[in-house]
Amino acid sequence: MARIPEDFIQQLLDRTDIVALIEKYVPLKKAGANYQARCPFHNEKSPSFSVSPTKQFYHCFGCGAHGTAITFLMQHTGAPFIDAVKDLAALAGMQVPDDGKRDPAEDNRRARLLERMDIAERFYRQALKPAERAVAYLKERGVTGETAARFGLGFAPDGWQPLAEAVGDYKDDLLVEAGLVISNEGKRYDRFRDRVMFPIRNERGQVIGFGGRVMGQGEPKYLNSPETPLFHKGRELYGLHEHRRAIQEADRVVVVEGYMDVVMLDQHGVTNAVATLGTAITADQAARLLRLADEVVFAFDGDNAGRKAAWRALENSLPQVPDGKRLSFLFLPEGEDPDSYVRAQGADAFRALCDRAMPLSDFLFNELIAQTELGSQEGRVRLAKLAEPYLGRLAQAPLLTRALKQRLGALTGLDAPRERPQPSSQRPWTPQQGKGQPPQGRAKVMAPPWRVLLQALCNDPKRARRLGDLPDNPSPDAQALMALASLLREHPEIQARDLPEHFQDRPEGAVILAAIAAQMRWPEDYDAEADFLGALAGIRVEAGRGDVKALSSRRLADMTPEEKARLLEAVRTRKTPG
Ligand code: UTP
Ligand code: MN
Repeated sequence: MARIPEDFIQQLLDRTDIVALIEKYVPLKKAGANYQARCPFHNEKSPSFSVSPTKQFYHCFGCGAHGTAITFLMQHTGAPFIDAVKDLAALAGMQVPDDGKRDPAEDNRRARLLERMDIAERFYRQALKPAERAVAYLKERGVTGETAARFGLGFAPDGWQPLAEAVGDYKDDLLVEAGLVISNEGKRYDRFRDRVMFPIRNERGQVIGFGGRVMGQGEPKYLNSPETPLFHKGRELYGLHEHRRAIQEADRVVVVEGYMDVVMLDQHGVTNAVATLGTAITADQAARLLRLADEVVFAFDGDNAGRKAAWRALENSLPQVPDGKRLSFLFLPEGEDPDSYVRAQGADAFRALCDRAMPLSDFLFNELIAQTELGSQEGRVRLAKLAEPYLGRLAQAPLLTRALKQRLGALTGLDAPRERPQPSSQRPWTPQQGKGQPPQGRAKVMAPPWRVLLQALCNDPKRARRLGDLPDNPSPDAQALMALASLLREHPEIQARDLPEHFQDRPEGAVILAAIAAQMRWPEDYDAEADFLGALAGIRVEAGRGDVKALSSRRLADMTPEEKARLLEAVRTRKTPG
């Protein structure tokens, strides 16, 4: 697909008023500098969806949805990126540049791939009934005909090119691109042969891939569609299309590992499950689920592999959890998976397991404690060290972070990791405060210093020039700050409102977008400049201490004159009273 030049996107966003755009879909009310509404992306009674005209950015403090005019259109209408850009360009009276190299057929290539998937899905579905072995296999696994029909289960007949019967032209390259046909040294044959077929749909219900299971023994047990322009394993969730309503109604989604788990849970009445596609849940998938429901329960096998998979799910989800949402982990009894469990014990028993699932905080601490020796001082310090990066990843959950720090403090007997510099007025700001209260000095926002710097930079990118040299720091805030600072060094022309688009798809994106969103909660009289300077000084002092400590443990004779001077200076200033 032809790439739309970055500067066109920027011009387009410049010419688009996000407030006017969103107002077409959602009634907005002015509230201070921003606009508010009940969030269109999740069910809520009071408005936590906020649109900033100055930053040209929206953010929901309830579900965490946020982004630019383009992402709003994508999320709200389900349109792919390119279509959202085209719609916006039409509104702005702009022409999406055509780089000339583009094949005119390119535009509907996606539609044509989808058509091939449709043909294949119908073919496999019709092939199931006459395939006695496949029917017997499903029956033996307890799948009813009704369930098979609901999920569109099918059968890929044995042989090299059974699909040729259904598609007009077997040489059609789109069949290869769609992952249905394999082309190898001039020979072509069906990817899926002699397997029970599970069509994978996107959220809009279009078939974009397949999983095919062998009947009985054989490798691989499941053969899946490869990554194609339609199908990205890390984005899609099996069952999401079928179960979206039930998930919203239950306000809970259960994430399982297998196709059969989703299908059999559904058959027994648990209709709020989805499955990842043979990979650990990605941040993107977690964010999507957290927008749909307040509670996400991850169900895993009770064995070692299950624990490992659960830990990866935790790591990938942490940056996506907003305060007020719950993540929990359910470990099935050894040897069971959700399919076998629900068949033996029924839906109520499975729901009861979900009710008792282990909260994220317990799972996190249990696993970390298992790696340490709490009986010794060293072990407790190690626990604090181990926990720190995980707590740092909770970019969207300041309250949960605080609660976890307190718990860590209680466990280790150490203070919660110090946040320097401590702001002078230590009240964290909440929306209930602020209005109508006399300001007590200028407001401060309590946040760790690296986050303060990041927010201050997002607020005014010109501050990048004043950062100077900063020490290395592994925290997500510091890493994001470094990425942002280096971008701004290369492109000093970048303004605050350009940032969301720049970072949308980068690894630092979640942290930076959270920092941008945090500005919407700044009190009106917040003194960003003072906090910026304070944080900068705090980080420098801290770094200086480490530096001097390192120096003082070395032999004077081995030092350069410059290092000696620094050590002397440190000793001298420390002795100076005041
Ligand atoms: P499991 O091996 O746990 O199988 O794989 P399962 O879901 O219990 O399947 P049944 O009950 O034996 O039929 C879990 C998921 O991992 C992916 C599939 O998405 C599967 O549903 N997987 C597994 C593969 O993609 N390929 C494989 O070979 C195995
Ligand atoms: Mn199974």
